[in-house]
Amino acid sequence: MNNFRRDSFILYAALVVAVLLSAFVSAETAGVHAADLPEPDRKAIFHPVYARNGMVVSEERYATEAGLQVLREGGNAVDAAVTVGFVLAVTFPRAGNLGGGGFMLVRLAETGEVVAIDYREKAPLAVTADTFLDSNGNVDTEKSRHSVLSAGVPGTVAGLAFALEKYGTIPLEKAIRPALLLAKKGFPVSENLARSLEDARGRMENEPESMRIFFKEGGEAYAPGETLVQKDLAETLKLISRHGPEAFYEGEIAAKISRFMSERGGLITERDLKEYRTALREPVRGTYRGYEIYSMPPPSSGGVHLVEMLNILEGFPLGEYGHNTARTINLMAEAMKFAYADRSEHLGDPDFKEVPVKELTSKEYAAKLGERMSPGRVTPSVRIKPGEMPREEGPDTTHFSVIDSKGNMVSNTYTLNFDYGSKITVPGTGILLNNEMDDFSMKPGEPNAYGLVGGSANAPEPRKRMLSSMTPTIVLKDGEPFLVTGSPGGSLIITTVLQIITNALDFGMNISEATNAPRVHHQWLPDKLRIEKGISRDTIRILTERGYTIETGNTMGSAQSIMKKGEFIYGASDPRRPGGLAEGY
Ligand code: DON
Repeated sequence: MNNFRRDSFILYAALVVAVLLSAFVSAETAGVHAADLPEPDRKAIFHPVYARNGMVVSEERYATEAGLQVLREGGNAVDAAVTVGFVLAVTFPRAGNLGGGGFMLVRLAETGEVVAIDYREKAPLAVTADTFLDSNGNVDTEKSRHSVLSAGVPGTVAGLAFALEKYGTIPLEKAIRPALLLAKKGFPVSENLARSLEDARGRMENEPESMRIFFKEGGEAYAPGETLVQKDLAETLKLISRHGPEAFYEGEIAAKISRFMSERGGLITERDLKEYRTALREPVRGTYRGYEIYSMPPPSSGGVHLVEMLNILEGFPLGEYGHNTARTINLMAEAMKFAYADRSEHLGDPDFKEVPVKELTSKEYAAKLGERMSPGRVTPSVRIKPGEMPREEGPDTTHFSVIDSKGNMVSNTYTLNFDYGSKITVPGTGILLNNEMDDFSMKPGEPNAYGLVGGSANAPEPRKRMLSSMTPTIVLKDGEPFLVTGSPGGSLIITTVLQIITNALDFGMNISEATNAPRVHHQWLPDKLRIEKGISRDTIRILTERGYTIETGNTMGSAQSIMKKGEFIYGASDPRRPGGLAEGY
């Protein structure tokens, strides 16, 4: 070998080593060891992110990264989830929150037990049946959606602290730290955040405190890439990390909230805050084609109706009928109608009225409903006056999923209700208030913002939790982890989760395919079948001929899911809303 050839060979070899090394390093920073790459599945049209040890999937990258860091350092799934929950309150303020509420489902690897943590907001003590009615007895949606009255007593801080204390391993201070730093030092505004703030501007302009935080002086919007600092929120987070949830429910923050409420004619008092309690509940359980389903019990309607629909559909060979064929959509829509009709009548806060969970989720009941269904048959939703069109879903609620190396799983959905909730920030705290009170049924048969109707079971009462559709869900196979999923989307949440499960179990999709596939939705009232882009015209024609009124609207939901198969963990963040991140290690 002459000198020139030898030098080029050395250069070439060095280059190869460098390329291989950098590939390895970048693969490792992305959470995946190059050597672990499985064979690409040549039948898959979308490939999920995968890892071996743990994974976090959320709608915002700083939140996912903070959660993953906790896992890498040896924290468990609950540690990571609570960290994600606090970070989203800073970096994803349209839905991440301290001033809202939600639900967390946890699978504990050690015992195999699944528990449901209910930190849904509660109605303040001073609420009455008339609080949200005008002088003619009609529902005043300005009050229920856009005023200080619209806020329920927030549950998020209590719920996250409860989860960490009971099932986590790190101190609260550590779980709050990444959020605190992001609030204090700021973070670059994403395209997504900039746009959602612009969308919220109309209502926010009535709230100087919110404008002061989320817009620049003079009302100019933050451009993507500019830094958003939230000083008051950082101070609030510091107080909570030092003094625990008591700082929020009894201390300085409670005083600020109740003072603001009395100034503005709101209802939440120091007593309401002091008496707020997280509830630990038994998850709703079901089975579907040999898999075990665990989901949120009342005061969410999600789990009950998810299991009810799955039970009905189990009676039909959907796999044989085909994904999104007219026959399958027909059966799904009918199952959805039965479930949402039941929701309007039977569901509410179980601390106030017994909810027939067992009956609604039994296989016998589903079989009876199934007798009224057959491919080709459509029962119109006639008995009650039709509801209003559901409001176009805004990007408000948010879901995240976590799994750790031991098989602990967390499925968490929490919300302010609308984007940025009531758009009202409690002065000096950086806390945006929810407008969750609108999820109560203010008047029998009168639809809420999502077109959902209800009755006395969900009428507003002091201390009661308003009915929710949030459906954080965990699916096991023979007691072992299979799926963690959930989504935002108001009334569309339950049917979104349903389709993630049927897509995986009936149609053999991987988690990316199950997430990306076009969705359908029916909620009994209004009697309309909503479909996303991507369902064939032939299918739409057949469904129309069978009697459905079809509506093609916005996309539905934003599922954030993890699937475990063999030694690999796969994740998918819904592409319907950009900016999410699934990442593992
Ligand atoms: O709890 C509920 O069902 C609603 N407040 C959730 C709102 C929601 O998902 C809005 N998101 N897109």
